[in-house]
Amino acid sequence: MTSAPGYEEILRTLSEGSVHRHFDAFTDIAWDDPEFAIDPDDPRWVLPDCEPLGASAWYQAQPLADRIRIGLARQANTAKVGLQFENLLMRGILEYVFALPNGDPEFRYLTHEVTEESHHTQMFQEFVNRAGVDTPGVHWLVRSVQSFIPMTVQVVPAFFFSMVLCGEEPIDHMQKTILRAGSANHPLMLRIMQIHVAEEARHISFAHEYLRRTVPALHPAGRTLLSLLFPVMFAIACDLIAKPSPKWAAQQGIPRHAMREAFWRSPASRQMRRDMLSDVRGLAHACGLMNPVSAQLWRLLRVDGRASRYRSEPARSVQP
Ligand SMILES: [Fe+2]
Ligand SMILES: [Fe+2]
Repeated sequence: MTSAPGYEEILRTLSEGSVHRHFDAFTDIAWDDPEFAIDPDDPRWVLPDCEPLGASAWYQAQPLADRIRIGLARQANTAKVGLQFENLLMRGILEYVFALPNGDPEFRYLTHEVTEESHHTQMFQEFVNRAGVDTPGVHWLVRSVQSFIPMTVQVVPAFFFSMVLCGEEPIDHMQKTILRAGSANHPLMLRIMQIHVAEEARHISFAHEYLRRTVPALHPAGRTLLSLLFPVMFAIACDLIAKPSPKWAAQQGIPRHAMREAFWRSPASRQMRRDMLSDVRGLAHACGLMNPVSAQLWRLLRVDGRASRYRSEPARSVQP
């Protein structure tokens, strides 16, 4: 029987994965290929029904031209939110690696991650620019505290890497769901999502391994506090990352009741939110963050549900 790989071995496997399987925003996407051209009237921008807004009765009742316009704007805004979040992540990681001692294997893996996130921000911004939608990006609340978020890594790294997962898990889950559904999305967006999902598998694996290693070693009071913060952070993340901001909704003329229905009031969207967090609930179980009180909080916030069986493997991936 082979024993589970140790932390150093996992980091080495992830780092080697970054060397052998990585993407460049401008050489791995044929931006100028006519097949990838963005036509704002192309019906392939209509949101699929495996996406919360696309699944809503209000959206589906709109004329095709409006569904196309809102669909393109939604995908551009998700790209903008994603790249702003990646910007925060890169800044926090750079703060973290600054103080690492010589020989620490986290240095190599995390700098690979920064390189990949840098390409993702270029890829997403290029998409936003070509989409021709002046999209607002993150909620004003995130904009107002963005300078402080990377600094948290200096004080409580486990909290920072939990926030990293708050950003990565919902977007990764939405992209994987759309790819698996084989929807008739635009080929440019499919290519972007394939590249992103392939590389995020490593990033998410790292954050999971980091928390599995560090959370059990926290002071019991800190661990209890994190167990209570965990469901709150992920519920908020679904509102700040997976849900577009009120400013975006106003720009697109989407009424408040439609936003409420699409973002977590309808039973279908509530289930989508629960599904988004099944890997996180699995992680909470695996690293000692699920206890009777925190389980009650997951339930109260309506983000409870099945927890993925925990897999300690270096990278879950989808073939690009
Ligand atoms: Fe990314
Ligand atoms: Fe990432």
